[in-house]
Amino acid sequence: MMLHRPVMAEEVSRFVKKEGILVDATVGTAGHSYYLLSRYPALRAICLDRDSQSLKIAEERLKNFGDRVKFLHRDYRTLPQAEIPWEQVTSVLVDMGFSSFQLSSSRGFSFQRDDDLDMRFDTTEGEPAKEFLKKIPFSHLVLLFRNFSDLRRAEALAQEIKRTRPQTTSQLVEVVRRVYRKATPDLLARVFQAIRIGVNRELEGIEEFILSLSLKLHPGARLIFLTYHSTEDRLVKAGFKKAFYQGLLKSLTPRVIRPTVSEIKENPRARSAKMRVAEK
Ligand SMILES: C[S@@+](CC[C@H](N)C(=O)[O-])C[C@H]1O[C@@H](n2cnc3c(N)ncnc32)[C@H](O)[C@@H]1O
Repeated sequence: MMLHRPVMAEEVSRFVKKEGILVDATVGTAGHSYYLLSRYPALRAICLDRDSQSLKIAEERLKNFGDRVKFLHRDYRTLPQAEIPWEQVTSVLVDMGFSSFQLSSSRGFSFQRDDDLDMRFDTTEGEPAKEFLKKIPFSHLVLLFRNFSDLRRAEALAQEIKRTRPQTTSQLVEVVRRVYRKATPDLLARVFQAIRIGVNRELEGIEEFILSLSLKLHPGARLIFLTYHSTEDRLVKAGFKKAFYQGLLKSLTPRVIRPTVSEIKENPRARSAKMRVAEK
């Protein structure tokens, strides 16, 4: 099993408060939580993930921290409605996207494996990618590829997908190869990314989440976002801006923070990361 390497862990640790409760809203396989709980002995954590398989691994990995850690299987966008001791929450971390563990699973996230085309974080709800691709209207599929893959010839790809209805990752790769003579690994990754974002509705409700969470947070609590795609970052920036105008949050990162060159060298998955932090 492939554990995920936490991105910008050092930079995140500089903003996370050393005491109180950290809500790790997207715990994955607990890279950040493990790092932060080890570093700050007075810190406790509430860890969320939509993916119950990741949550199980996180529980196992963090078991030595005993009752300093609690786990919730839930979508972070419903966090403001959760019954947790808000007055003790000092930091909330949202590390968006997907993990190396998910990429190496058999759930269809990787173009390098032959799996059923599923791509759901939470396999107990929603529809697998193969159904999603069948049902999504053609024009929406074109937009999905334009917005989240930055693809030329998005219409041709959407047409070919609608015509052939791929059921597995290999079949999807074949479709992409028929449409693009040069289907580079980067292009394939971007096609898979767009479909994953659509299947999991990853970019819905982010601004609303920031506003409703900022109403729940107590003064001094911090909200830290790591994003990996320009549209994700734009939504976080817009949500923060609204919260700043309404006097709900203030910015701690006037300029977005990026990983160091040496981190990118050691962990290429960090290359597109951007961090923004705000405080109540
Ligand atoms: C980049 S990984 C997190 C990695 C983690 N920080 C670590 O260091 O191991 C993102 C995680 O967010 C989860 N996720 C994505 N959307 C979510 C949502 N709306 N609510 C809760 N978890 C979500 C994914 O299942 C995945 O495990």
